Amino acid sequence: MSKLASNLQIDTARLWSTIHDTATFGGTPKGGVRRLTLSAEDKQVRDWFRQALEQAGCEVHVDTLGNMFGLRRGRDMSKPPIGLGSHLDTQPTGGKFDGILGSLAALEVVRTLNDAGIETELPLCVANWTNEEGSRYAPAMMGSAAYVGDFTPEDILARKDIDGISVAEALDAIGYRGDTPLGAQKFTSFVELHIEQGPILEAENKTIGVVDSGQGVLWYDGKITGFESHAGSTPMQLRRDALGALSEIVLAVERIATELGPKAVGTIGEAVIARPSRNVIPGEIAFTIDMRSAEASIMDSLDKNVRAAAVEIAARRKVEIALDLVWRIEPTHFDPKLIDAVQTAASDLGYSHRRITSGAGHDSCNLATMMPAAMIFVPCKDGVSHNELEDAKEADCGAGANVLLHTVLALAGV
Ligand code: GLV
Ligand code: MN
Ligand code: MN
Repeated sequence: MSKLASNLQIDTARLWSTIHDTATFGGTPKGGVRRLTLSAEDKQVRDWFRQALEQAGCEVHVDTLGNMFGLRRGRDMSKPPIGLGSHLDTQPTGGKFDGILGSLAALEVVRTLNDAGIETELPLCVANWTNEEGSRYAPAMMGSAAYVGDFTPEDILARKDIDGISVAEALDAIGYRGDTPLGAQKFTSFVELHIEQGPILEAENKTIGVVDSGQGVLWYDGKITGFESHAGSTPMQLRRDALGALSEIVLAVERIATELGPKAVGTIGEAVIARPSRNVIPGEIAFTIDMRSAEASIMDSLDKNVRAAAVEIAARRKVEIALDLVWRIEPTHFDPKLIDAVQTAASDLGYSHRRITSGAGHDSCNLATMMPAAMIFVPCKDGVSHNELEDAKEADCGAGANVLLHTVLALAGV
């Protein structure tokens, strides 16, 4: 590698200002971001991103599920590019970093190479994957899941949000149903920078997480059917209370994950009482369960135990409980050679680092089933994410982007 390339550093101040500029698209009064996938705010940030990539000399194209790709040409265009990037959508009350840091750092890598006049051997391709968050449409990491063939485009396009708007309609409404066939944009390998979304790096005062694995995820849609009746005149022993049953499910999920811990977690993040009224015993509740582990055998136990708990609670409380497994992704083992490339880049740049397992799901977990993939983590304040309070330090974001730059240079060749 030339001296110019090996000493190259990204422009941390420029990266930091793009993080703050883009946080205005869907910015909330509490300093967070609400940018649901395929919403008007998502269109704003996508338009900005497209323009920024084009100004940086990339050819931008969009596939039929709205995944965006910005291609920077290399000397050898016969090989697929090295992919880098993440996602631009957020949780309903998300922060400024989850997702977009990885895509903005990828843009910053391209800008840095342009400024230095460096052409890589392989091309590079900056990506924004559609609906990583999964809060408007299930599953999470939807664009990359369909890209690797876990779902057909027809299945994804027909999925509806809570207002009955399909993915196809939402894509058309913001003009992001592209014409690149799903999967046509190939990659030699893929690298994603992300905030850790957990407390480990900060607690250990480490700048870089070299991600070697990722937790598997189980998502269920649940429905409890009891019987609506009068809150005043129905004796306690005659009730079929859906909310009473849900409270037992909540505690069962907590107990099952804790007993299988520390390598297991379980959450009920959504619960909706149909026709709620303070003097009606709840008769119908829809809810979700999210359970995760980095070990496949623990995933199986989580699944078995939660189903058994639902059967037992339903029988004892005389309600019906339906649990529909809507998504399962196995634990990820990232590519050893790419993990080494990330670790070498972090060491060469003099950043403190440690190996780490990702607690969150990421597009790279899907991509790793099809190509060599790797991830780089940087610390976030108090480990908080999926919250408007999510925060990270400028220097850490810059360090992560430098590790991304040098990992990509090592993979693409200069
Ligand atoms: C994605 O953000 C997930 O891990 O749920
Ligand atoms: Mn994310
Ligand atoms: Mn997220």
